[in-house]
Amino acid sequence: MFQKYSPVTRTDYERWIPHQTAAIQRVQSDPYALHYHLMPRLGWLNDPNGLCQFHGIYHIYYQYDPFDVNGDLKLWAHLTTRDFIHYEEHAPFLFPDSELDTHGAYSGSAFVKDDHIHFFYTGNIKLFDRPDYDYIHNGRVANTIHLDSPDGFHFAKKELVMGMQDYPKGFTQHIRDPKLIEESDAIYMVQGARDENDHGAVLVFASKDLSHWQYRYALRTKEPLGYMWECPDLFVVDGQHLLITCPQGVPTQGVDYANVHSCVWMKLSAALMEKPTIETIHQLDRGFDFYAPQSFADEQGRRILIGWMGIPDADYTNPTKESGWQHALTIPRQLFWKDGQLHQQPLPELKKLRRQSWELDQKALNERNFEEACYELQLQLTNCERLSLTLSEEIRITYQDQLFTLDITACGCGRTTRSVQLTKLQDLHIFSDTSSLELFLNDGSEVFTTRIYPSRPRCVKLETVGQTASAIRLHTLSAHQIK
Ligand code: FRU
Repeated sequence: MFQKYSPVTRTDYERWIPHQTAAIQRVQSDPYALHYHLMPRLGWLNDPNGLCQFHGIYHIYYQYDPFDVNGDLKLWAHLTTRDFIHYEEHAPFLFPDSELDTHGAYSGSAFVKDDHIHFFYTGNIKLFDRPDYDYIHNGRVANTIHLDSPDGFHFAKKELVMGMQDYPKGFTQHIRDPKLIEESDAIYMVQGARDENDHGAVLVFASKDLSHWQYRYALRTKEPLGYMWECPDLFVVDGQHLLITCPQGVPTQGVDYANVHSCVWMKLSAALMEKPTIETIHQLDRGFDFYAPQSFADEQGRRILIGWMGIPDADYTNPTKESGWQHALTIPRQLFWKDGQLHQQPLPELKKLRRQSWELDQKALNERNFEEACYELQLQLTNCERLSLTLSEEIRITYQDQLFTLDITACGCGRTTRSVQLTKLQDLHIFSDTSSLELFLNDGSEVFTTRIYPSRPRCVKLETVGQTASAIRLHTLSAHQIK
């Protein structure tokens, strides 16, 4: 339909979308279509972008390619909500329609200041004047673009605030995904980067007025961790400065870094003015499908995180492609810093999805002929030595010899197991949707986010050894509403 790499404008989209009713219908009738997770109306979804709350309304944008199920030219899709249960879907907010972002309005973030939303994103440009570009060291332009919006729907112009000449020496052309944080001395922007030795880093810039930015320094680990760090997010939660980023290509070490690309949180030693060092590195998620999360502080001061429930360069074929869509966002989660660990907890608003709730013992749970795909299961465990939980016959969750394992071999389309070493398993909170699972362990200090493609409903069977499940709660969940 559109020529590869010609700009796509709002007018192009508005002419095209009325003819897509049958394609949208096909997506909606896919049995794997999710009930309470945000997914694309059509085509491809990746990173959440521009998350913020403004005048009570939460704005959620994401990387979107409605034209190509494999994701090519990126727009920003746009949804709003007041309660994370009722959503409104709007026309895409941002199109790659200018000479600054012709080959993709790439990822970016929102910064609320002086009653405006300031968006910063990467305008991706690929050059085609030579046949031998590698698009890493040459052939690419990453523009940092600012949009000043009064409402999250409109903006007057795309302001170029940094181009290739403004980035430091020693880095490749892979510099992207701006995210802002205001500190006492300046407003800082972090950007993901790949240096010329193919090591990932985060570039830190500072500004007083949001238009003029100066490079300050790079944040790196002592030992290299992957070749590129995408989607950095630097924030303070419960008094602690943290950096979340997505290092690409970290080699697998035992059960750690098992995916082709990872997502980690890093504890920082100090505020940005003091050029912090990275003190701790921990995987933010252990499942097959988690990447490019973004967090923001809402008007109540809660730090909320949403991730992409997918991963770039995934080594399987997603069966939903046949119905014309791929990927989704995770449920919103609240972040806490406790006992030197980052914890993720499902946002309390999601309790409003609960339809029916039961408090059960293990026997009653096993005897229950439960045949639902959308539910929440909460297990409180005491001195658990061994646990085996089967969700339908296709998903096995085990804890044995201090190893927690999720096995989706029977419904993973070629994907098998993911694990984490845990000295104790104290609780497990599961969110199941038609084709996804999110497991929160030990108060959310470990999380597994995974797409699954089961052929049968989930009847739950639990076996345990040790003084175990002291409380079991099961809730069926209804769908969220989108208009
Ligand atoms: C991460 C990412 C970002 C980039 C965007 C493009 O998934 O590669 O680095 O801005 O996706 O869609």
